[in-house]
Amino acid sequence: MITRNELIKKYIDFFKSKHHKHIPSSSLIPENDPTVLFTTAGMHPLVPYLLGQKHPLGSRLVSVQKCIRTGDIDEVGDEVHHTFFEMLGNWSLGDYFKEEAISYSFEFLTNKKWLAIPKEKLAVTCFEGDKDSSKDIDSEKIWLSLGIPKERIAFLPKEDNWWGPAGNSGPCGPDTEMFYWKSNSKKPPKKFDPKDENWVEIWNDVFMEYNKDKSEKYISLSQKNVDTGMGVERTLTILNGLEDNYLTECFLPIIKEIEKISGKKYKGNEKEIRIIADHLRAAVFILGDEKSISPSNIGQGYVLRRIIRRAIRYGKQLGIKENFTVKVAKTIIPIYSDYDEIHRNHKFICEQLELEENKFSETLEKGMKKFSEIAVDKIVSGKEAFLLFQSFGFPIEFTQELADENGIEVDLDEYNIEFKKHQDLSRSTSAGVFKSGLADESETTKKLHTATHLLNEALRKILGNEIAQKGSNITPERLRFDFNFPRKLTPEEIKKVEDLINEQIKLSLPVIREEMPLDNALSSGAQSEFGNKYPEVVSVYTIGSQKNKGWFSKEICTGPHVNNTSDIGKFKIIKEESVAAGIRRIKGIVE
Ligand code: ALA
Repeated sequence: MITRNELIKKYIDFFKSKHHKHIPSSSLIPENDPTVLFTTAGMHPLVPYLLGQKHPLGSRLVSVQKCIRTGDIDEVGDEVHHTFFEMLGNWSLGDYFKEEAISYSFEFLTNKKWLAIPKEKLAVTCFEGDKDSSKDIDSEKIWLSLGIPKERIAFLPKEDNWWGPAGNSGPCGPDTEMFYWKSNSKKPPKKFDPKDENWVEIWNDVFMEYNKDKSEKYISLSQKNVDTGMGVERTLTILNGLEDNYLTECFLPIIKEIEKISGKKYKGNEKEIRIIADHLRAAVFILGDEKSISPSNIGQGYVLRRIIRRAIRYGKQLGIKENFTVKVAKTIIPIYSDYDEIHRNHKFICEQLELEENKFSETLEKGMKKFSEIAVDKIVSGKEAFLLFQSFGFPIEFTQELADENGIEVDLDEYNIEFKKHQDLSRSTSAGVFKSGLADESETTKKLHTATHLLNEALRKILGNEIAQKGSNITPERLRFDFNFPRKLTPEEIKKVEDLINEQIKLSLPVIREEMPLDNALSSGAQSEFGNKYPEVVSVYTIGSQKNKGWFSKEICTGPHVNNTSDIGKFKIIKEESVAAGIRRIKGIVE
């Protein structure tokens, strides 16, 4: 039996022995990247470095990253799909390429000191080539030289053997994937058939040598990178010879608690119990992420609401009468003793779950009744779907799922028209963000990013030094900044903050980037985000220099920023509101 801690330790230790530096897991909520709502892979926080920026810790990195993927949410309920999971990964930022990457993977998988998987139980896929990139015979050669026979190497097209980008544009490239033969009763056939379900993917080595631009062109990057990903849950299942990810220690205590609360056995009720366990685990990690995300109708809050409500629905389906989400959450938190943030935010997690469950339980039953009345007509009109959303709290995906189960249609086009009519938020819903095709490094984004630093400091100067950043998000249209403050700002305070920022813009202050050890950064007075984990060496952005009577702002940050505050234009606050007890939110634009 190998435990989660042992697997993670082995992986990190192995890559440390190959001169990689261990970087902490980044937040689940990407900073300053409007193209996706959540961190979906270990490479995500590394995008600027894959594109050529120098990483403070060098060119070889290793991490275990918490991830959220909602693209496959409909598949959750089977043995292997999750909305939240942990991903092990190692990176070469313009350092080693295919030869070392594949050799490291092979050594870690097969060497007795590490995972000790017999070579006979392994097979691999490589990219077959197309108009954008040629057939990956280099990888094939390397696998052959390591002793993987030709019959165990399959070539597949882009749909299978190409990874990225995480958003619509960004770093990407062909990959080689490693498969493990999971059946204990059946021997693996000589010839590898990737469609045979006994072969399960265990690791993915991506050779990121392209950048996909907004016009869908693949441009060669100035440096060749390696990005790899190995799912913790899946690997534990395989190595321990289990049939199902939910039988690993990452889930077993949760499953037992749901069995206890519902009085139902896992066997026979797998789908419902898995969905509840998976969704509430994801909810615990989103709520615990320091960014004060709570259930709402937009952005990450909407995804959070959707998964909590879906878990509640399946709970009711299992026959659970009373509130149960907090009880389940309390079995999830102790499994992850290594994530400080979910322990620190224990109270917030439980409060928010309880609130959401109370809110939704009131309307769920009535909404289900309403749905049954509507279902008689064999179609849910857009107006009816909107009514289910607005009056009964049914997210549209939820209505769609109920409709699918009943073999009826939902008029989604009409729903979208209704939704837009009622709220000016369509672009902020999860689907909107994924489809918006925004450029993450556009000029406006940079301006807003630098304006965010000015805002952070201006708030501290006007409202007091105890102000600290609680979250930040930037789209090409606006910045959003959350901070601790107990009350609404007065119109005078808002004006003072705006004026102070615009003064710094008029002063044409330089924006300077430096790298330094974390301790030096903190002792030099650089702002850091509460609860964020930083590597040992960080980059610090300073606005204003000694010549201009000292600096105005200093923050630990990965960038990018404009070079001079005069590039920003004019800054304006468009909204100031409350998001949670003691947390205010400002939205601002540049003109
Ligand atoms: N980014 C790659 C993946 O997620 C490694 O599979």
